[in-house]
Amino acid sequence: MTRGKRDLNRARAQVSFFLNGTLTHVSGDDAFMTLAEWLRKRAMLTGTKIVCAEGDCGACTVLRAFAPPGIASKRKPTFIAVNSCVITVAQMDGSHLVTVEGLKVDGELAPAQTAMRACHGSQCGYCTPGFVMALTGVIEKYAVIDRKTAANALTGNLCRCTGYSPILDAAEAMEPSAKHQLAGRYLTAANIKKLRDNTKGNLLIVDSEARIFKAPDNLADACRFMAQSSSPRIIGAATDIGVQINKGKPLGMYNLSLQNIADLYGVHIGRSSIYIGARVTLSDVREIMKKPIPEFAKFLDLFASPQIKNAATLVGNIANASPIGDTLPFLLATDSVIHTERLVGRKLTHRAIPATEFFLGYKNLALKPGEIITFVEIPRGKSAKNLRLYKVSQRKDLDISAVSAALMINTAKSGDIESASIALGGVAATPVRLPKIERFLIGKRPTSEHITAATQMLNDQLTPLSDARGSDSFRRALVHNIFNQYVHDVFGSPA
Ligand SMILES: Cc1cc2nc3c(=O)[nH]c(=O)nc-3n(C[C@H](O)[C@H](O)[C@H](O)COP(=O)(O)OP(=O)(O)OC[C@H]3O[C@@H](n4cnc5c(N)ncnc54)[C@H](O)[C@@H]3O)c2cc1C
Ligand code: FES
Ligand code: FES
Repeated sequence: MTRGKRDLNRARAQVSFFLNGTLTHVSGDDAFMTLAEWLRKRAMLTGTKIVCAEGDCGACTVLRAFAPPGIASKRKPTFIAVNSCVITVAQMDGSHLVTVEGLKVDGELAPAQTAMRACHGSQCGYCTPGFVMALTGVIEKYAVIDRKTAANALTGNLCRCTGYSPILDAAEAMEPSAKHQLAGRYLTAANIKKLRDNTKGNLLIVDSEARIFKAPDNLADACRFMAQSSSPRIIGAATDIGVQINKGKPLGMYNLSLQNIADLYGVHIGRSSIYIGARVTLSDVREIMKKPIPEFAKFLDLFASPQIKNAATLVGNIANASPIGDTLPFLLATDSVIHTERLVGRKLTHRAIPATEFFLGYKNLALKPGEIITFVEIPRGKSAKNLRLYKVSQRKDLDISAVSAALMINTAKSGDIESASIALGGVAATPVRLPKIERFLIGKRPTSEHITAATQMLNDQLTPLSDARGSDSFRRALVHNIFNQYVHDVFGSPA
């Protein structure tokens, strides 16, 4: 990699963010630490706990408000819960952060803390700061909190000694207090402006091992970095990469984060397709999809926890290339398209790759060297009403699928099947679309008999793994059951 001198001179060499209301700058090695480690070891804010270090337990929950530089003036940031154990400090550039230490006002506990104490929501207390932060995120958003809202907001927080009833009692007992409201205290116009002034232009952090973390503010610079670096790594939200760091696979030499590129936060809901930028979080995707494709929005409720979805991106799920990536069967069945950019010579070059041609083998994608996924195009499809998405996992919340599926079968006026789109995850080295089965079904009635015949045909096309989440035969049985469930859900168990 030739790191141009001009680049080094021009770029900012420190990450800037507000931490509990104080403008904070971090550079060098510290910027490569996970936020949770840095909070505890450098900022000495040990209220934030680290338990699983995998995004699974919520003990490290902090609140983050972020609006990307280019669109900060159009969208006021709000505080949302994220796991600090799986993100790096460098990714916090331009953020307003609040930890459990930042909740009290004049020595007075915040609503979530008061309610947890009053309802006996804590015993050993190790999980408590995480619960308090997740609950504070809820009260920042909703004036009234019912048990269901609280339970959904806490799916990413584990407690092993108190039991969840007192914690949910505390959630319901919280009384919003204007004095403690975080947006009013920390997201002042002066703070927002100060941070914007401190985070203009490209960010380039270099650590003592000469590792680079680059966060340019435009796509051309990002593509140039990809073209000029050897084995560069793109960092999305790092919900997957962060787990790997904690498991002993540190970041490599050339790391590119897309966090400062305003265009990649774009969303366009067109008449025939929805376009989602590479930096759009899954929580935002869920909101965006509620109207045009509600089945996908509902399905995302089963994806990870609020803390993960508040950071993780749809594009990260695609590029992660896991055969059990939950959104992939949906993207395959809807004929979605992956859009990319890369530098060819000096020119930015665009490609549109159908999702059905994107997954080549286990962790092997149809990306060319240096290529960045910029957005995903999801056709709305006249048939989205018959779309159903299924995820089977050992527990409902915050679990990885054994099998996931997307089915969309439409019938003509005659009652015969006129179109079928079927895709599965967890049954082969990649997520798969099943054109043979789709062709078999066309012209037939959507009965259990034909569906059973289709799943029998499937047997030679699937190569499911046997692992901790299920044996080969278990996964095949799941596919059969999902197909029958679909007929029941959409066609009401026809004879
Ligand atoms: C606790 C926990 C629960 C989870 N639950 C689920 C779940 O229920 N279902 C599920 O499917 N997954 C789950 N995941 C996995 C992960 O959260 C998702 O895959 C997520 O969508 C990844 O997004 P990200 O932005 O964090 O990607 P990152 O971790 O930043 O990146 C993932 C990969 O994508 C590449 N990449 C990122 N952006 C681009 C781009 N623009 N162009 C090219 N390559 C890119 C990166 O280089 C990396 O290889 C879970 C993870 C955790 C930690
Ligand atoms: S320590 Fe468990 S989610 Fe971060
Ligand atoms: S109070 Fe001990 S783990 Fe929750």
